[in-house]
This record gives sequence, structure tokens and C-alpha cells, in this order.
Amino acid sequence: MSNLPSGNRDSFSSKFGVIAAAAGSAVGLGNIWKFPYIAGVYGGAAFLFVYLAFILAIGLPVMLSELVIGRSSQRNAFGAFKVLAPGTPWRYVGILGVAAAFLILSFYGVVAGWSLQYISLSIQDGFHSKSPDEITSLFNTLIESPIRPVILQLIFMVLSAGIVIIGIKKGIEKYTKILMPLLVVILIFLCIKSVTLDGAKAGLEFLFKPDFSKLSADGILSALGHAFFTLSLGMGTLITYGSYIKKDNNLVNTVINVTVADTVIAILAGVAIFPAVFAFGIAPSEGPGLIFITLPNVFHQMPGGYIFSILFFILLSVAALTSSISILEVVVAYFKEEFNLGRKASTILATILISILGVLCSLSMGVLSPYEFFGLNIFDLMDWISANLLLPIGGMFIALFVGWYFGRKKVQAEVAQGGTMSGAFLSIFMFLVKFIAPIAIAIVMLNKIGLLTF
Ligand code: PFF
Repeated sequence: MSNLPSGNRDSFSSKFGVIAAAAGSAVGLGNIWKFPYIAGVYGGAAFLFVYLAFILAIGLPVMLSELVIGRSSQRNAFGAFKVLAPGTPWRYVGILGVAAAFLILSFYGVVAGWSLQYISLSIQDGFHSKSPDEITSLFNTLIESPIRPVILQLIFMVLSAGIVIIGIKKGIEKYTKILMPLLVVILIFLCIKSVTLDGAKAGLEFLFKPDFSKLSADGILSALGHAFFTLSLGMGTLITYGSYIKKDNNLVNTVINVTVADTVIAILAGVAIFPAVFAFGIAPSEGPGLIFITLPNVFHQMPGGYIFSILFFILLSVAALTSSISILEVVVAYFKEEFNLGRKASTILATILISILGVLCSLSMGVLSPYEFFGLNIFDLMDWISANLLLPIGGMFIALFVGWYFGRKKVQAEVAQGGTMSGAFLSIFMFLVKFIAPIAIAIVMLNKIGLLTF
């Protein structure tokens, strides 16, 4: 296999296409399902502010690093390090990313399966005249069942595999351009309804009025992990996408647009959910079911709620799909290059292996729930290891690679193609990737394992 970039690689056709694809990867269940759920568990506003600080200080520079690595190497996550740093151990960063992708997709597909189930429940008007308690037990019964969520998860995995086999470019560009703005519109309607419910104020205070004394080492680590998860960073997804970006694209603009879109959507989801959580007497720390338990109550009370709820869960599933294909692509590209398989064979192999783990994740909500590791069921364990361990460690190495190995000159040369970056801005970026990002990640991890306390 040659180490030279191949000449006729796919590339995203328009500038908007690049942003759309990267935003399609970033915006997903992480924003709408996971952000409210973990913000609820870790105390609301304090978690939100720490998470925003990580996005700015670590997320932005790591995203630019990934795009720079991808576009200059013209390779996927694993191959990129082999091209840019031949014969060095840097390529193991790519392997870490493949492992993270594998674990993430195993539980991601389960939640996407729940979302599919909620499309069907919405169509059947399944939440109609149900009390908040009944809506809660509807969710719990679904996820504990050994058959239905497994089948739905497998359907979702097959859909993702289908898109990855056909080729991702056209699919994502088209979907993201039309459907993501629609998702934003629906979220705004939900926010309006939610903040006008009786008792909504407590929810807004929970989300925006920080009490930093509530923040634990676990909370800080989760905020860090989530900054990576939500922006699709730390495992090479955006290295792979970066390799499809044309040389006339302004990378800095892309990074800013994607980060702003992703963050705004997460905050909108928070505003849609927490006022309703308090209004309906649901515990903010409810866990992975938070949105599935809260939102049906809101739809219930909204004019046009029937249609809104169908549309919302369809769009949530599509958002999940544009993210899952970017996760699957990391594993597929690895199988393709390392084992010399075709795209189709790699995709089928990756999908089967991930789905096996995914079935265990799904069953761990019900029949396998007695099996716990470090106090976590299999679903939570996959989430914890990937988001809180593998992504930050991957991100740390990506930052170190760009800061210390790749270096300022090459970053400048790559960014200068299609864009500009002032010397001062570049200096800030280099400082962040050389020092701030790696040191902050190390401190958060050491704090979590108790080796460093404040
Ligand atoms: N960013 C996606 C979300 O927020 O749903 C999840 C994700 C996609 C994580 C791609 C990691 C990744 F590489």
C-alpha cells in the first residue's frame, strides 16, 4: 500500500457541504439525548459552564487539529498518522480511535433504536391521555424488553451500514442541509412551550444558575468527555472528514460554524427539557430516559403536538443516523486499509461486530442488568470508557501531535490554503494544543482517579 495520498479521492462538493457533513456528525443524540441527561445528573448549570469552557479551550483547537491532520494527509484516522509520521508510534492514536468508535456505536445504536420506537409510538398517538408516571413506565417497559429494542437497534445499524456502503458524501450533504434547520425550528417551538409551562422557572434556574459547589470530579470528567463526544472529536472522525475537504475551504470558519451550531442545539435541547422536567415533577437526574420521559408530556400539551412529536422523533433519528455513519466510517476505513477488504465487506464486518456488542448493551437495560462492572451496566460502561477515557486521551494525543510533532509552520501552511489565520491567532492555537489542552485533560483525569485534588 502506498503512503502517497491518492489522487481521485472523494471530496465535498461545496463549502456548505463540508460544514453540513461535519455538523451532521457533531449534531446527534449527544446534543439532544445525552447533554440534558448528564447535565441533569451532574447538577445543571455548573456542568453547563464547565462543558462550555472545555468546548472553547479544548474542543475548538482539537477540531482544527483533526481537520488539519486529515486534509494534509488525505487519509483516514489511522492512515493519516502513517503518512504524516511514518515509522513512529503515532499511528496507535488511530487504533485508539477505532476502539472508541466501536464502543460508542454499540450503545449509540441502542438509543437510536429507542428513538425509532418513539416515532412509531407518536404515530399511534401512544402518549395520549397518559399521566407523567404512565409515560415513564412506558419507557422503562420498552428498554427492559429483550426483543423490541434489540430489533430496532439492528434496523438502525443496517440503515447506517447501507448509507456507508452506498457512499456517504451525497447522503449527508442532502440530509443535513434540509433536515437540520428543521430540527432547530422544532426545538425552538418546544422551547417556547416548555418555558411557558407552570413551574418552568425552576428549570431555567437549574440550567443557567450555577452552583459550583455541586460539581464533583466525576462531573468535571463527564463535561470534558462530553465536549469531545458532542463535537465528534478524539477518535479521528474529523480526520477522515478533513481528508475529504478541498484545499480552498476555510478550515477555521468550518470549525467555528460547526462548534457554534452544535453548542446552540445542545443549549436549545436543555431549554426545551429542563423547564418541563420541573413542571412535570420529573427528577433531573432521571438518567438515560430523561428526554423520552419528559418530551412526550410536552407534546401532549402543545397545539399540534401529535405532528410535532412525529416530526421530532424522525429528525432525532436522522440526526442520529448522520452521526452514526461518521462513527461507522472510522471502523470501516480501518478495516479497509489494514485488512485490504473492500468497502462493502469492511462495512458488513464492522456492523456485525458492533451490533453484537450493541445487543449486549441493549439487554443490559433488562435481562443482563444484574451484570455490573465498576457499578455500571454494559451500556453505561461502554459510554463511560469511550467518552470519558478514550476520547479525551485520543484528543490529548491529537493536540500533542499537532503542537509538538507537526508544528506551527505546517499548520500555518495548511490553514492558509483557503483561509487566513493571523499570527496572533495561530500563536494562541499553538499554545492551546501544546500546553492547555493536554495539561487540562491530564489534570481532569488525575483528579478523577484521586491523584490530584483541589
Ligand atoms: N457527536 C455525536 C453526537 O453528539 O451525537 C456523536 C459522535 C459522533 C461521537 C462521531 C463521536 C464521533 F466520532
